[in-house]
Amino acid sequence: MFEHLRACPPDPILGISVLYAADSNPAKIDVGVGVYRDATGATPIMESVLQAQALLAATQTSKSYLPTAGNAAFNRAITELVLGLDHVAVREDRAVTLQTPGGCGALRLAADLIHTANAKALVAVSRPTWSHHHALIGGAGVSIIEYPYYDHGTHTLLYASMLEALEQLPSGSVVLLQPSCHNPTGADLTPVQWHEIGALLLRRGLVPLLDLAYQGLGEGLLTDVYAVHHLASILPEVLITVSCSKNFGLYRERTGAVIYVGRSPADKHAIHTQLMTLARRLYSMAPDHGAAIVGTLWEQAALRQLWMAELEAMRRRVHSLRQHLAAQLKEASPLTDFEFIAKQSGMFSLLGLTQPQVEALRVHHHVYCAPDSRINVAGLNEESVARLAAAIAAVVRSP
Ligand code: LMR
Repeated sequence: MFEHLRACPPDPILGISVLYAADSNPAKIDVGVGVYRDATGATPIMESVLQAQALLAATQTSKSYLPTAGNAAFNRAITELVLGLDHVAVREDRAVTLQTPGGCGALRLAADLIHTANAKALVAVSRPTWSHHHALIGGAGVSIIEYPYYDHGTHTLLYASMLEALEQLPSGSVVLLQPSCHNPTGADLTPVQWHEIGALLLRRGLVPLLDLAYQGLGEGLLTDVYAVHHLASILPEVLITVSCSKNFGLYRERTGAVIYVGRSPADKHAIHTQLMTLARRLYSMAPDHGAAIVGTLWEQAALRQLWMAELEAMRRRVHSLRQHLAAQLKEASPLTDFEFIAKQSGMFSLLGLTQPQVEALRVHHHVYCAPDSRINVAGLNEESVARLAAAIAAVVRSP
């Protein structure tokens, strides 16, 4: 039955981790997959998460099934973290949060919901976008189109072209937007631009799908959800997908959520049941452990404070690594402008290198970045920054 199926190509991002692991050179640098690393190169468990986990282990009395909607304490925590309890949609009981297996599970569930509502719906994604968006969303059977977002030559947003393209979308289309820390470019929209986009979406009857994977790692916990708060307050319907991989460091625990904001409590109820039905069909219920940790952490004021302080320290460190890398590149490669790295936000920037240059980085310098030359700045440390800058300068000089 399966003999005609051929081997799949490796995943463009996770495949890089496999190549990195196979390299025995001690000087190798991993700036591929989006994982935060500390000064020693480790991805430690956050202290607040460790303490919440210990509390959970001491108090949890059962491993029986959860409801399909997931862990209630987690869902409350995510609603508060992402929207805030005083957001108009929360006060009017028009928002619902459902736990999912990571941000990927949230995106797939959101895409399934879109397909259930309208199998012919278009989902517009930025060009470029996170490489896995296409597979995750397209896997639900909806059609994907792209809108211009970023100019590789100038390292700036193609804002006017983006607006033009969104203007042309059929009413009822879904627009995938990243509220902060855009993956893979690191280039975000300003508050003024979000207001213009919001007005466009409202006027054209378009629904935003807001993919929020890095809250707290860009400009701060609140600033990073500015677009979410604004769009959810002016639009009749908003879908939000949330990942706790990076900001809680819960990568392998697959902890995430999908939030739906609708016109009324009745809308909210209907979509909640739709999401639960889709989840039951796919995986019954999301795994509990990571979500239970977040729920426990959030309910303890001291742990919540500790988590916020830890996240803020991580955010500042990534920001300072950006400044270091841009400064080192200015010295090592004065003819190429890499200043955009210092100005951008979140974990990623696109170097703008060609495929042979990316290949040369890997083969000659043991530097592992994504095939589109995306680097994970959060994977660097003070020592590897200088070596990375030297390697980039070398491939830019002689590709
Ligand atoms: C990334 O973009 O590197 C991360 O979100 C990990 C992944 O699943 O690709």
